[in-house]
Amino acid sequence: MNSLRFIHISDTHIAPIPDWESYGHNALDNAETIIEYLNTQLPFEPDFVLHTGDVAFNPEEKAYPVAQKVLSKLKYPVYYVRGNHDHPDFMRRYLDNLPEGEGNLDYDFWIRDFHFVVLDTFGFTATIGILEDAQLEWLASTLDGSAAESIILAVHHLPVITGVECLDERMMIKNHGALFDVVAPHRDRIRGMFFGHIHRQTQAIHRGIFCCSAAAVWFQLYNFPESGLEFIGDPYGDPGFNMVTVTHEHCVVSSYTVPKPSHAE
Ligand SMILES: [Fe+2]
Repeated sequence: MNSLRFIHISDTHIAPIPDWESYGHNALDNAETIIEYLNTQLPFEPDFVLHTGDVAFNPEEKAYPVAQKVLSKLKYPVYYVRGNHDHPDFMRRYLDNLPEGEGNLDYDFWIRDFHFVVLDTFGFTATIGILEDAQLEWLASTLDGSAAESIILAVHHLPVITGVECLDERMMIKNHGALFDVVAPHRDRIRGMFFGHIHRQTQAIHRGIFCCSAAAVWFQLYNFPESGLEFIGDPYGDPGFNMVTVTHEHCVVSSYTVPKPSHAE
């Protein structure tokens, strides 16, 4: 069976200072814990790791050598999406597997005959995402020109309405309708759209496209409805990752959490 298997992680939020934490979760400790788990506990070899953004806590250059030092410990190739807390130039300068260039970090890559398309949904405000017209045109031409039997999309911001106020009002891709107008005609060969940003493992289907986020490596957010527009951190949620298996017929996602390091409590 022609298949691939990758690990989906997101939202490491690594800062230049090693003791950066929130809600009792130390960002660096959690990243080290997840990486140690992935390097030592998996009874299989994933093809790669997909990081759907917010590599750094804030888009300052000093965070990226720290992030690279930790993330490069992974035994597997890592592909990155730009998050709203990331700077694309610093990502290109310090992280692996990113194309040269400047500005938005849109790119595609192939793993065997599976085609991955990465979009930079960085928004014009702090947490809302957007795709500019030129990006949507690039996406349309990339999809139209792809002979792949299976295509996987990766973004940072939330692409689907959830019914949770703080997510739908403050974390979505603002023009998500335009995004789906481009991708929906290809739904038969799009195996999934993977995202981060909402710091919670979530699955949804919209216009026939399977959408899936991973837990944050840092701390989780409450994604309960009727809790208002404020982001509320979850002191109980552990860091996690998704294992994703894709074939030319289906996509299977399993979610795992790893207890946060006890010394960070
Ligand atoms: Fe984040």
